[in-house]
Amino acid sequence: MSTQCCFFNAFHRFRFTLTNRLYPTISILCRTGLSRSSSHGSLLVLQLACVLILYSLVLPCLPALADPETDRACLSKCHGQLKRQVEIQGKLAMHVDVAALRSSIHQQLSCLDCHQAIAQIPHKEPIAPVDCVDCHYKGNPRHAPGGGEYRDYVESVHGQIQEDGKKRPRCIDCHGTHDIRPPSDEQSRIYKMRIPETCGQCHTGIYEEYEQSVHGQGLLRDRVLDAPGCVDCHGIHRILSPEDPLSSVYPTHVSQTCAHCHDAVEIVGKYGVSTGRVVSYQQSYHGLANKYGVRAIANCASCHGAHNILPSTDPASLIHPDNLHQTCGQANCHPQAVESFALGPVHLGVVSPPYDIAKWIQNAYIALIVLVIGGMLLHNILDYISIRRRKRHGFH
Ligand code: HEC
Ligand code: HEC
Ligand code: HEC
Ligand code: HEC
Ligand code: HEC
Ligand code: HEC
Ligand code: HEC
Repeated sequence: MSTQCCFFNAFHRFRFTLTNRLYPTISILCRTGLSRSSSHGSLLVLQLACVLILYSLVLPCLPALADPETDRACLSKCHGQLKRQVEIQGKLAMHVDVAALRSSIHQQLSCLDCHQAIAQIPHKEPIAPVDCVDCHYKGNPRHAPGGGEYRDYVESVHGQIQEDGKKRPRCIDCHGTHDIRPPSDEQSRIYKMRIPETCGQCHTGIYEEYEQSVHGQGLLRDRVLDAPGCVDCHGIHRILSPEDPLSSVYPTHVSQTCAHCHDAVEIVGKYGVSTGRVVSYQQSYHGLANKYGVRAIANCASCHGAHNILPSTDPASLIHPDNLHQTCGQANCHPQAVESFALGPVHLGVVSPPYDIAKWIQNAYIALIVLVIGGMLLHNILDYISIRRRKRHGFH
């Protein structure tokens, strides 16, 4: 058994080094060799070309599919056993759901493709965790999609968590291990409708609020794929704290984040939601101050909430007429606001029944401006013509 395993192991290491490490190095060397060939002669380029040709002859001979032999070695006595009774050095070998792996996006990979740290089978020491970035980097020869995830993740609020009792989400917390599926697959943890649940494993309170909101009910109950899940507002791998000025939910960026959908008739229009809301906010006092970077001024989320957004007709909504005095009266906004707080239209110019009068006044003003300036111009033109006439007829 052990000689056989050594052989498999050596074979796998060779295959892996070749596809994952050697190929990118060769192609980089080749590119630099080519660009310098004019000054250093063509010898280097020739050598590199030879290596490349040799390599491309070897590559197609290597098996691309899961390697049944090694997988059998891993599964037959240990990880394929349903009952976790196989004891290795005092520890139970864990059962692996092979069916899940074979129906996942990684169905073509063999155990050792991912578990590269295993040097012999059976392995005695606990093994180092799988590193997704062994394959998921830009330009990898296995065509693993993506590439920027790792860098984005490292820079994100999650990647920056120092281990001090807080659970830092790793790739596998959001993606799974042997059952990873692409975002388009309805069974995937990262399918649009399942993302809130995936984030909700840790952010439980926020998930509960979100589930009840107009967006949560739209997405989770009514299957409205246009409604935002967590990542539509927060980003995917580069999620940042709302305190970070680069975050999509930093106070002065919130209106842009909502605008992606609420500015677009083709997205929210379908659901009978009025679209003038972003422009009308931007033109308001709040919107103008916010645009010039005043953090403390009301943004969409200050009045509507972030995870508990509801239509104004819902009695639990922060913008329900009965709750407005409380919403506007937040300590750092208008603390003097009492029950009878006279709220003008927040969304100036949006024609909704109570504010028809504002629209009328706006139109009247425009008419008045046209009349006054137009009249003034007309008066001056007539005056000019009459002066010219008088001059022509010799009056002084
Ligand atoms: C797509 C890569 C991938 C492939 C292929 C893969 N694994 Fe894993 N496996 C993982 C990840 C990720 C973990 C989670 C622990 C870690 O990060 O190392 C894991 C964990 C395990 C564990 C620990 C128990 C558990 O479920 O968390 C065992 C045992 C295991 N794998 C065996 C296997 C066997 C046997 C095969 C081949 C049939 C296999 N793996 C194929 C990625 C993979
Ligand atoms: C041995 C190389 C390898 C490792 C290790 C690996 N992957 Fe992959 N991954 C691939 C390949 C190849 C594909 C594309 C498969 C296909 O399209 O058939 C893929 C596809 C994916 C996809 C689907 C992407 C899409 O848009 O379709 C996700 C998600 C994914 N991997 C996540 C992970 C995570 C998370 C890990 C770490 C636990 C991981 N992978 C480890 C090779 C790897
Ligand atoms: C906080 C949760 C979370 C973490 C942590 C996370 N991802 Fe993702 N990842 C997602 C979500 C959600 C999507 C799907 C986005 C979408 O809808 O397209 C995704 C998509 C992907 C894809 C598919 C990209 C594509 O273009 O199709 C890959 C590959 C991937 N992630 C790899 C990784 C790797 C590698 C890590 C670890 C460095 C990681 N992810 C960590 C949530 C996460
Ligand atoms: C494995 C647990 C886990 C998962 C899954 C997870 N997070 Fe987190 N998240 C954390 C932890 C821990 C923090 C740091 C909290 C802190 O510092 O107070 C955090 C921080 C955040 C923050 C910044 C909070 C702040 O006040 O600075 C945001 C935003 C966030 N996560 C969004 C998400 C989204 C969106 C998803 C899903 C795509 C997700 N998280 C998935 C554990 C998780
Ligand atoms: C409609 C956009 C939107 C959606 C959808 C959304 N968020 Fe947020 N989130 C925000 C905004 C805006 C903030 C900034 C804080 C505020 O103003 O209340 C925020 C703040 C946060 C914070 C940090 C502050 C806090 O309240 O602890 C976390 C963590 C978070 N969101 C996680 C999530 C998770 C998890 C989901 C999915 C279940 C989600 N968000 C869905 C817009 C959204
Ligand atoms: C990914 C797109 C998207 C984003 C981002 C988004 N929304 Fe929405 N929003 C929708 C859709 C779609 C609906 C209608 C849902 C339904 O009726 O099922 C909606 C409904 C609403 C409603 C209820 C309107 C009504 O007349 O019933 C309000 C209020 C709202 N959103 C405010 C916001 C705010 C504030 C933000 C930013 C923090 C935001 N939305 C971000 C897509 C989005
Ligand atoms: C100062 C508080 C405030 C701000 C800031 C604000 N809104 Fe509003 N919003 C309201 C109030 C109050 C209403 C209900 C009265 C009305 O229809 O104008 C409303 C109504 C709405 C509606 C219709 C909801 C319904 O049920 O009829 C949408 C959609 C909306 N706002 C989106 C936004 C977006 C997007 C932003 C940011 C660009 C934003 N709002 C900024 C207070 C605010």
